[in-house]
Amino acid sequence: MIQMYNVSKVYSNGVRALDNINVEIERGEFIFLIGSSGAGKSTFLKMIFREELPSEGHVIIDGRNVEALKESKVPYLRRNIGVVFQDFKLLKTKTVFENVAFAMRVIGIPKSTVDMQTRKALDLVGLLHKARMYPDQVSGGEQQRVCIARALVNDPAILLTDEPTGNLDPDISNDIMKMLKEINLRGTTVIMATHSKTIVDRMRERVIVLKDGRIIKDTERGLYTYEVN
Ligand SMILES: Nc1ncnc2c1ncn2[C@@H]1O[C@H](COP(=O)(O)OP(=O)(O)O)[C@@H](O)[C@H]1O
Ligand SMILES: [Mg+2]
Repeated sequence: MIQMYNVSKVYSNGVRALDNINVEIERGEFIFLIGSSGAGKSTFLKMIFREELPSEGHVIIDGRNVEALKESKVPYLRRNIGVVFQDFKLLKTKTVFENVAFAMRVIGIPKSTVDMQTRKALDLVGLLHKARMYPDQVSGGEQQRVCIARALVNDPAILLTDEPTGNLDPDISNDIMKMLKEINLRGTTVIMATHSKTIVDRMRERVIVLKDGRIIKDTERGLYTYEVN
């Protein structure tokens, strides 16, 4: 469902963030993306979301070449991809419910569908009972779950998460990981960039290791091990 062929990304400042990436990811996989800071993890995820375009090579999602996609078709691609990035903040002046519903409203989905899907997503992350609260009335872990609900509201085939447990204490991280695994078992492909050795070693999923923009290791049921030098 996701293929990258000879993908390189050179940013305008000359940094080569990805260097000849070749990878295939099947529907329903759970993948950890690890590697030191600056290795290219976030850029890798941005390729899939078409937040950034490759400088060379091809990114293919569900048989479609992402670079060749017309601007007008990008929203359709993105509707199928949920994204939880650390810097995707919640809107403080909107309730938990509205934060999740917002993305659907702006693309003109009928209110009854929006309401139903929003309730379903909040239920999935265990926050339906806090739907009327505002982000600063719920805990950090709950805010993170709202972000996950927001990413899931369209029933995406792919969920991309960039260090989603980065600022959370270990108990909360466990809850979030359980939830991500549940979502994965329902058929969503999950790709998660992380620095958490504890999580990676416990879950034993496929682990892709990036270093200087290259894949240096790709293991089924892997562990958090990579050469730093
Ligand atoms: N928008 C950007 N413009 C220029 N350089 C960038 C940009 N985003 C990332 N980089 C650089 O690309 C490299 C890979 O970054 P990134 O993908 O964020 O790695 P990671 O997520 O593994 O820390 C780093 O050297 C980073 O400084
Ligand atoms: Mg990053």
